[in-house]
Amino acid sequence: MAATALPLPPTSLLTRVGTVEGADPVEFYLGEGARLRGVTEEMLPADWHWDGKRVLDFGCGAARVLRQFATEAERGVFWGCDIDTESIVWDQANLTPPFHFFQNAITPPLSLSSQSLDVIIAMSVFTHIGELWSDWLLELHRLLDDGGILIASFLGAGIWEGLVLEEYREDEIGMSVLHGWEGPDAWVFHSEWWLREHWGRGFDVIGVKPPPRAPDGSAQVTHSYIALRTRPVQLSKAELERIVPGDAREVAGLQTSLRLAQRESSELAARLPSPSRRELVRRRLAAIKRLPRRGGSLSTASLTRRLRARVRRPRRTRT
Ligand SMILES: C[S@@+](CC[C@H](N)C(=O)[O-])C[C@H]1O[C@@H](n2cnc3c(N)ncnc32)[C@H](O)[C@@H]1O
Repeated sequence: MAATALPLPPTSLLTRVGTVEGADPVEFYLGEGARLRGVTEEMLPADWHWDGKRVLDFGCGAARVLRQFATEAERGVFWGCDIDTESIVWDQANLTPPFHFFQNAITPPLSLSSQSLDVIIAMSVFTHIGELWSDWLLELHRLLDDGGILIASFLGAGIWEGLVLEEYREDEIGMSVLHGWEGPDAWVFHSEWWLREHWGRGFDVIGVKPPPRAPDGSAQVTHSYIALRTRPVQLSKAELERIVPGDAREVAGLQTSLRLAQRESSELAARLPSPSRRELVRRRLAAIKRLPRRGGSLSTASLTRRLRARVRRPRRTRT
């Protein structure tokens, strides 16, 4: 069955998974879905076939990608899951059969058995998962059968400059998050070396597809893609997150993250009304009172006295 023969979601759901200014939302939804199916197949091994495969589209939204596999789904088992209730309710009402859908929580696990999948597709999903990235990667590793494949998009060289407004330098970027740490508005960036290093602890990297380059060397504004084959290793969250102490790129990546977080927090602070000096002191006093008191700590009392004295005798301002 052709993807175009299936019902179309309402505009609010099909634009929720991506839009481009000026583009017709339906055309973009169908065209982008078809392109992402093409990318998925390009990333799979040359001898790949879909017959009988157990597939999950993790973070499927309004099934933009999944619907492109309507014919294959009749000869395999194709799941879609998402945290968004409205999308999953629509998907279940309109696209089952041939697909199966369930809603998942913001934290793992998913309601599927261990080693029950051959392929997981995650387009524009790890691009929004900050704090919980290692929990989710661990969960996808659990779900994949021996040799199972994960294909994910990531925000790399093609998106960095447009959103971060800085030159992309592979060796100075690890994993950086802007716009909050979790949720649909977070932007989660990854460099290729970092994914190979950290995600590579549970998977063999089959390939990475960076954005195409223009003749002037600039990267096309598009996601990058990675395909990984699961390795039968005992994996843990700590192991995925472990920093390689001797790798200068780890330090440089953390420095970049810190600098961007500082930039973002000062931009946010600048938008807030600045509290008065008296209010700042009141907040500090309240914070000190909340500190756990260990037997006879002198520092809390002396700090409190000094702060109170400051409120009574405001310092002269220097000119
Ligand atoms: C930009 S949309 C992409 C949807 C779909 N993969 C596609 O390419 O059309 C990102 C989707 O990821 C979902 N998502 C984000 N975090 C998730 C999580 N932890 N588990 C499942 N879905 C998640 C969002 O609700 C949203 O539908």
